[in-house]
Parts: sequence; C-alpha cells; structure tokens
Amino acid sequence: MTLPQDPKVAIIGLGYVGLPLAVALSPSFDVLGFDVDRRRVAELEEGHDRTREVESATLQAAALALSSDPATLAGRDLFIVTVPTPVDAAKQPDLGAVEAASRMVGAALSRGAVVVYESTVYPGVTEDVCGPILEEASGLTAGRDFFLGYSPERINPGDRVHSLDKITKVVAGQTPAVTDYLADVYEKVTEAGVFRAASIKTAEAAKVIENAQRDINIAFVNEVTKLFNKMDLSVYDVLEAARTKWNFLDFRPGMVGGHCIGVDPYYLAHCGEVLGLHPQVILAGRRTNDSMGYYFAERVVTALEARGEARSGAAKVLVLGLTFKENVPDLRNSKVADLIAGLREKGCEVSVHDPLADREEAKELCGLDILDDLQSAAGFDCIVGAVSHEAYGRFAPADFERLLGGRGIAFDLRNMWADSELPDGTQRLSI
Ligand SMILES: NC(=O)c1ccc[n+]([C@@H]2O[C@H](COP(=O)([O-])OP(=O)(O)OC[C@H]3O[C@@H](n4cnc5c(N)ncnc54)[C@H](O)[C@@H]3O)[C@@H](O)[C@H]2O)c1
Repeated sequence: MTLPQDPKVAIIGLGYVGLPLAVALSPSFDVLGFDVDRRRVAELEEGHDRTREVESATLQAAALALSSDPATLAGRDLFIVTVPTPVDAAKQPDLGAVEAASRMVGAALSRGAVVVYESTVYPGVTEDVCGPILEEASGLTAGRDFFLGYSPERINPGDRVHSLDKITKVVAGQTPAVTDYLADVYEKVTEAGVFRAASIKTAEAAKVIENAQRDINIAFVNEVTKLFNKMDLSVYDVLEAARTKWNFLDFRPGMVGGHCIGVDPYYLAHCGEVLGLHPQVILAGRRTNDSMGYYFAERVVTALEARGEARSGAAKVLVLGLTFKENVPDLRNSKVADLIAGLREKGCEVSVHDPLADREEAKELCGLDILDDLQSAAGFDCIVGAVSHEAYGRFAPADFERLLGGRGIAFDLRNMWADSELPDGTQRLSI
C-alpha cells in the first residue's frame, strides 16, 4: 500500500506540543489543527496562544486550519496525536485522552492513512492500546489498511534555544517504509535531523527514560541538598566546584513539577509493575522530589525563627513564582503549591506573585489571589525566590528594599540573587 504522498495532516491536541508542531508543518503541508477545547481553538483563531510558545504574528501568518469539530477530520491521511498523558490520583497512567483521541481518529480513518503518536507513554501504548482502538473504530486493520508510528516530542517549553527546529526528532513506524516516510515528514521541521529508532516500542521507551533519568538525577541533587543543609554547606557552592570535573552531571536542586518530568517516571514504573518488576530507583526519585516543596517551607520557617523576623504573630512571606518552572505560564502540577501549603501550615501569612500565571488557575492551585502589582507590594518579613522568572533575576536593591523594608530575608531557592546587591539589613539565604 502506498503511503499518503503530500499528506493532509491533522494535529490532534493543540497544547504546548501540538501547536508549535502544527505551525512548523504548515509551510510544507496542508495542516488542520484540532482540539476538543473550543475556548483554545477560539483563542488561537484570534491569534492568541496562552502557552506563549507561538508568537501572535507567527500564528496569524501560518496557513493553518483550526477546528474543534471531529467531522473536519474526514479526508485527513496523516494524524499526529499530541494529547495529554497525566497520572490519576493513584499516580497510575491516565490514558483517557489518548484513548478518546484514538476513538475519534479511528472514526475518521481511511485506507492508507498513518497515525503517529507524540504523547509521552510507556512502551506498548501505541501498538497495544491505541492500535486496537483505531481498528475497532475504523473497521480497518493496523499494519495492512493503515499504519502506526511514534515520534516522541522533546521540546522544552519556554526554552528558545532548544526549539522544535533544533532538536533531533526520533521516529519509528510500524514498518521500515513507514519509518522512512515519517523521517521525510519530520525532516521538514528540524535542522537537527531525524533518528530512526529500531521500533515503535523503542522510541516510546527512549522518551520515557529521558525524562525518568532527569528526575532521578535531580532527586540525587535534592537528597544531597538536604544532607549539606545539616552540615551548613551551600549545595550551589558544592555544585559549582563539582561541575569543574568533565564528567560530573550538572543538575540543580528544585521542585520537580509540570506535566513531564514529575509524571513520566510513573509511566515507566507502571510498565515495570505490570511485568512483575518493582522499580526501586525510579520511584525513590519521585518520592524525594515530591517532598521538596514542604522541605523548602521548613527551611524558610527555620530561617525566619533563627532571625526572629516574624515581628509579632505570623511572618509575612511573599512567594515569587508559582508556575512549575521559569519563564513559562504552565501551572500544571506545580510544586510551589506544596511550598505555600507548608508555609501556611507553619502559620505564615503567605502572598504570591507570578508575572506569567493565569489568575483563575492560580487561585485553584493554591487558594490565593496572585498579587496584581509587585511595585506596590511591601512590608514582608521574607521573600522566597521560588521560580527564577527573568523579571525576578533582574531585581535591583530598590526592589528588595521596597518588599522587605531594609530588613528581612531574601530566600533564594533558585540561586538567582547570588550576585545581586542587597540593602544593608536584608539577609540573602539560599540552600
Ligand atoms: N509540555 C511539554 O513540555 C512536553 C514535552 C514533551 C512531550 N510532552 C508530551 O506531549 C503530550 C502533550 O503535552 P502538552 O504539554 O502539549 O499538553 P497540553 O495540555 O498543553 O495540550 C494538550 C491539548 O490536547 C487537547 N486534548 C485533550 N484531549 C483531547 C482529545 N481527545 N482530542 C483532541 N484534543 C484533546 C487539550 O484540550 C489540550 O489543548 C503529553 O503526552 C506530554 O507528556 C509534553
């Protein structure tokens, strides 16, 4: 069977991953961007990308059809699925969106079509979970009437250096011909080249271990952060020295949240559990990283007590940054919420600021209204630099002076004020 030449592409799910991909493919192919979220589609139609991954001018200039109507999927012959793959309350993979998307694509599938998954999954999901759903919904047979593929997405939202066009794209198809076909398609969006993985399961496994490995490495640094704290050593000083060795792996301590690093290891662990292998290292990393928000809250409170900063009653603490990492508006699974909850449990009166976060989502996440205007905020006993958004890294002495009144603690979790000038009387503490 010949694979679709000059395919009509449909991207299913227009989030952090799907939208940049749809835009990048649009100069080379006829592309339809599809999302079940009507509000998202309406915003994109107006040229607004709330994830801030695609500039308004770029979005408006892109020859990209947008839709939330499944009927528009008919006649498409290359489907690329980029829907969320979260975990449920029991930290088990929640494949609900991938399955729903597969049912919908299956209903629109025609002979010769190719369906590629980019969502992060554990090995086997594309062929053993999604393939049968597509077959059932379409009445066609995978590998004969239509073909499966997998191409993990490796973008790093907010990172303008490692953008889609600069990242090697791993591809795998159900047959060598499908792999070559996908390589030709993806070569259109990246200058960094395409890597043909040995199989779909290999490509799925490669992606999930990339993120699990990162989680474990950060967990190690987080664990030694706790150890060095007991010895009154700065982990950042230790890391600065250690990274002068050529093969030292340069990871930083922190709260691991978000949709990927804090989630994907559970997909890998689930895979092990199903096969009777109970992962030790993978889940230990998760436990350590999940504990960091509350740990940092304790550090802040201990420092406040040691300095007697709470003048009377509760200490007034301003947390700077709520998103799961710097320079993105993404609040999903942000562990800063744990830090805030920990501070409040210890009796602190907490305020929060974030220049990028959505107000309503923020309220849902931590039950607090984000401060409107940092310029008029003042009178805190402590500010906690929780997320190193660019604006915080640029703080001048006057900012510290206004917020802390020439006293108090600037708790620099992200080491972003190491070289900043602080007013006399204000103490910078780090981890
Ligand atoms: N965000 C990242 O940094 C990143 C990086 C690499 C890989 N990934 C993986 O890519 C996948 C997507 O992540 P994301 O960050 O883009 O998620 P996202 O939440 O930003 O976007 C997903 C979009 O899919 C839509 N959607 C949900 N169910 C749908 C359905 N049944 N049909 C059509 N649309 C549907 C949602 O409305 C949403 O707009 C996940 O598996 C994630 O792990 C994400």
